[in-house]
This record gives sequence, structure tokens and C-alpha cells, in this order.
Amino acid sequence: MNASARTADPSALDTHALYRQHFAELQRRCEQALERGGFDHLVVPSGTLHYQVFDDRDYPYAVNPQFKAWVPLTRNPGSWLVATPGHKPKLIYLQPFDYWHVVPQAPSGWWVDHFEVIVIRQPEEALAHLPKDPARCAILGEAQSALGVGGDRAFVPNNPPAVVDYLEYHRAYKTPYEVAMMREATRKGVRAHRAAEAAFRAGKSEFDIHLAYCGAARQDANELPYGNIVALNQNGAVLHYMELDREAPAQSRSFLIDAGASHHGYACDITRTYASDGGGEFQALIDAVDAAQRKMCDQVRAGTDYKRIHLDAHLALAGILKDAGVLKVSPEAAVATGVSGVFFPHGIGHGIGLQVHEVAGFAASDRGGRIDKPAGHPYLRLTRVLEAGMAVTIEPGLYFVDLLLDGLKQGEHAGSVDWNRIEQFRPFGGIRIEDDVVCTDAAPINLTRDGFAEAA
Ligand code: GLY
Ligand code: MN
Repeated sequence: MNASARTADPSALDTHALYRQHFAELQRRCEQALERGGFDHLVVPSGTLHYQVFDDRDYPYAVNPQFKAWVPLTRNPGSWLVATPGHKPKLIYLQPFDYWHVVPQAPSGWWVDHFEVIVIRQPEEALAHLPKDPARCAILGEAQSALGVGGDRAFVPNNPPAVVDYLEYHRAYKTPYEVAMMREATRKGVRAHRAAEAAFRAGKSEFDIHLAYCGAARQDANELPYGNIVALNQNGAVLHYMELDREAPAQSRSFLIDAGASHHGYACDITRTYASDGGGEFQALIDAVDAAQRKMCDQVRAGTDYKRIHLDAHLALAGILKDAGVLKVSPEAAVATGVSGVFFPHGIGHGIGLQVHEVAGFAASDRGGRIDKPAGHPYLRLTRVLEAGMAVTIEPGLYFVDLLLDGLKQGEHAGSVDWNRIEQFRPFGGIRIEDDVVCTDAAPINLTRDGFAEAA
């Protein structure tokens, strides 16, 4: 376990001090990982731009997460990080001579003093500053970041499993700096969620709600950690609905929004569901899911198996369906027969941090291995036992998905639901409530609920 992750909620501490501690933890992890893999240097390219097929336009740039773990730089392709135990890490920073684009500013901020910063003007100049012997380097990145191929010293990402497994496994444990960054991402996300709710209540289209969201977050599609899911009415039944209808419906009955924000490379991931004023029974269903979700968030405790939270959620959600008159059988029977999965067809959540779906969700240890998903639950993304420092989402949902309902109707359990009740709820699509929660040695920190409370 990561000792630094055990500290209390860090929001009040100062970023310099938090980063210093984060940096020390990264150095410790780096040293261990290199020892495991038998390497002397960790070499991490920030990544490169890619052309789209038969075109001269680039895909949006996405920084190598192994790079942004060290430095809060998300818009700097062609840069490199070199960490060698016992030495100050090098940041080889590409600041090209370019009059077509805005050139990245010279690096500045609380983190810069921890690095020997070397500014280069051409990507190839990095070669002169990389370690002498590429064979002694764990080079973590994508294939196209390779440098020097065809020359005497080629730096081709080798992604040694021993090194990657170690670093990715430990990335689940957030340092207090990382929690602070996620808290800032949450502030932006909450601000934007509130603007989106107001736009929904004003009868705007999905597209205009999305624009209201981006405007309030001050982030566009390339900066957001994932594509916004903005769904009115029955579109809420599509789990990853991203169509953004330009026309507002004649009547907006319900609104499901799953949208995040980024801060220095860290993500938040927030989902809320609203009914229009006087939403009646659908509002009651939202309230019931919300109350159950808060209890699930409270299960984010050190020692709790995340799979347990997922399986318990099935029972809790089936209980809500029973109370709403959708289920005609007991919640236990609905879970046992798989009927609960028709209404809750995804996992309870995932790790979060540098990536919205954080890596190593199934890692059995920092030496590899895999913890399988429970049988019949193919979409669960995290199977580890929770420990202090882990950050996860808790995102239960209830949906009325035509495809899945058709399957239920044709199967042997068709009689376990009241089809008239389903017809009443179908026009509202679905419900998902999602918070980002940090596990501690005591009560969990709910970044999302804190964010909404602060904004209110
Ligand atoms: N926020 C989208 C997801 O977690 O899949
Ligand atoms: Mn999520």
C-alpha cells in the first residue's frame, strides 16, 4: 500500500508541497519498476501526432498517460521524460520553430524545479539527450514515438511488462496531489453540470445543452476526458448516447448527462439524471436510485471487494424496481435469473485518475496476474479489493433498453415483470447517477457530492 495515499483529504494543502510528495512517490515507484525489469532508465515519450488516413490533418493529440503522470503537460507532443534513479529526471521539452501554430510556452509552474529541463527545437534533437544505451532503457509509449530508427541508437518503445505492470498497478493509489487535481477537475465538471441542468430546464436541445456544458467547463471536446453523453427522454436508454440531437424535442421529460472535465491531465466523471418539473413517478425512481447510490458510495472502504459493491448493487436496484411495480418477482429472484441485468446492464464503475477508465482494473498484483470478473458480469471494469488511496466511480443505473427488453419478453422470464409499468417508464429512457469516490482508511471522500455541495 502507498503510505502517501493514507493522508487525510488534501484540498487545503498547497500544490507545491503536494507535488513534491507526488514526485517523491513517482521516483520511488520508478526505482522499484526499473529494478523489477532490470533496467537503468525510464524513458517516456509524450507521444506524437498522427495523420488521418489519406489526409494531412492530425487526429486530436492524446498525451501518453505515463508522461502526464510526471508533468502536468497535455499538449506537448515530441517531448520526452528520462528518469534515472539517483539523478534529477530530465524533461526534454520540444518547443519547435513553427510559425503555423502557437508554440508551447517555456515550462513553468510548481513542478519545473524538479526536472532538468532541456529545450529542443526539432523532435530528432531529443536523441542527443536520451541515455547512451537504449538497451538499458524501459521505454514506455506507442510504437510511432520511436526515435533514431535506422541510426546507431534507436529508442523504440519496448513497454517491458515487469515495468508497466508495476507502474500501472500502483497508479490505482492516488497521491494527495492527484486527489487535489481530481477535486479541481470536479469543480469544473460540477459547474458545467449545473449549467447543463439549467439548459435542460429551459427546454434546449441536446446539442445546445452540450454547448452550455462546454461553455461552463471552459473546455471543448478535445480537452474533456471523454465524449459528453447528453440524452433527453428515451435517448437515456442508450448507455453511451453521443448523437447530440440539434432539435429540441416537443417535450423534454427526462435528462441523463454523463460528462466530465479535466485538470492538469486528471479526470472527473459525473452522471446525473433529472426529470422535468412534476416528473412524478420517474422522479421518484431517480430519488430511489440516488439514495441507493449514496449507500453504495459508502461501501468504498479499505478491504471491500469492488466486485461485492457491484453484486450488491444488483440487489439494491432490483429492490427499487420491485417497489416501483416493475418487478413481479422478488429482488433476489430477479438477480438469480439475470433479470436485474436487463435493467442494469453495465458495471458499477471503474478506477479513475489520469484516465477516465484508469488502467489495471483487473490487476492481481504489481507482478501481473488477473482477477476475473464474476461470471455473467462482462462489463465490470474493476475487480480489485479497495485500499486507501484508490479512486473509483460508483455509477448504478436503471434503463429501459428496447433491445434488452425484447430479449426478456421472448425468454422464459417474461412473466417476472409488469409490461404495463415498463411501458410507462420507457419514454423516460433511463437513470444513472455517478460519483467519483476516494477510498481512505476511514470514511470515503466523495469528490462529486463535495463538489455539488460547494457549488450550491
Ligand atoms: N463516463 C462514461 C463511462 O464511464 O463509461
Ligand atoms: Mn464512469
